Amino acid sequence: MTVVSVTLRNFRTYESVRATLGPGITVVSGPNGAGKTNLLEALYFGCTGRSCRTINDRELVRFGSTATRVTVRCEDDAGPHELAVGFAPGEPKRMTADGAPVERLLDAPCRPLVSVFLPDRLELIKGAPALRRAHIDHLVAALWPARAANRRAYGQALAQRNALLVRIRSGHGSKTAISTWDLHLAQAAVGLMADRRAAVELVCDGFRDLADRLGLDGGPSISYGPRSTAADPAAFVAELEARLESDLDRGFTGHGPHRDEVLIARVGRELRTYGSQGQQRLGLLALLLAEREAISSLRAVPPLLLLDDVMSELDSARRTLLVEILAAGPGQVVITTTDLDHVPLDADVAGSRIAITGAGLIQEAVAA
Ligand SMILES: Nc1ncnc2c1ncn2[C@@H]1O[C@H](COP(=O)(O)OP(=O)(O)O)[C@@H](O)[C@H]1O
Ligand SMILES: [Mg+2]
Repeated sequence: MTVVSVTLRNFRTYESVRATLGPGITVVSGPNGAGKTNLLEALYFGCTGRSCRTINDRELVRFGSTATRVTVRCEDDAGPHELAVGFAPGEPKRMTADGAPVERLLDAPCRPLVSVFLPDRLELIKGAPALRRAHIDHLVAALWPARAANRRAYGQALAQRNALLVRIRSGHGSKTAISTWDLHLAQAAVGLMADRRAAVELVCDGFRDLADRLGLDGGPSISYGPRSTAADPAAFVAELEARLESDLDRGFTGHGPHRDEVLIARVGRELRTYGSQGQQRLGLLALLLAEREAISSLRAVPPLLLLDDVMSELDSARRTLLVEILAAGPGQVVITTTDLDHVPLDADVAGSRIAITGAGLIQEAVAA
């Protein structure tokens, strides 16, 4: 799946522009505040129906406009595809895939996978475990689309069990009913833990290698830290039963994969707590690159990688190395920079250049 172009109407700084992506690396350059991140965000919005920067879609509508619309054109073996997302404050978002309205763009089969590095996404490394769990669950879905069902089944069973705990605590539900939910929960939990473990195992060698090459010293590692040690549903049920009294006290389930950790570390200490900002950025970058490799080796569809302002914290040798990694890897990359010299593209690397010249204007040039 190749993204061919993105068209923006009244999106942030842009009134009406179309940007064309090259098959390999597309470099978006321009001074600070020019609208580079806005353009990446529009690509993400057009491919997923959501912003990668805000949960408030109103922010996306160009100041003074009443609605925004982003259209992404892509291509695969079956031919051209078109995804469109339109949003006007106060109205439901309108999304279409190949002209047909869809509830969720994420389920559309003709949608490219997208992976995004934003300086704000450091939360993934720094923030609460829930963010890393959700990230790994998305990775599972990207690697093995059918397994996303395990995550949903677990979430549903957990909500039901928690509701029952609350009822029992208030004297309404029966303790025997809980064992039915324990079994549902255990089956989903064991599946979910296996999926997460498999996904982390698929990326961990690549992560270590890429992080190390990009300059994250001290034996960088990513590992899965499940709460439960259960290898099968029966063992998980036993773990739940042992904790039933405290669950009843609290009115929620305190044990299970919804409390898991994904540990990203160097010198044996978590980057989350002990990493510098620069180390956290390298960790995030290496993780996304390792995921891209894992996804493209398992499925024929590497994600579109959006890298915002990733060069500013790398020295020149590592910038060259990153461009080599990106150029050698599968799939498309869009990378923003204030300084074109920071993205040293060899003449033989296929790439496009998009210069943002200010006030929502762009200028395109295709190199090689
Ligand atoms: N809804 C909007 N309408 C118009 N301009 C916006 C909107 N949202 C943000 N901006 C402007 O976008 C600019 C920042 O663009 P951005 O893409 O983040 O810049 P950079 O090139 O540094 O990544 C700011 O000047 C900001 O005022
Ligand atoms: Mg920016």
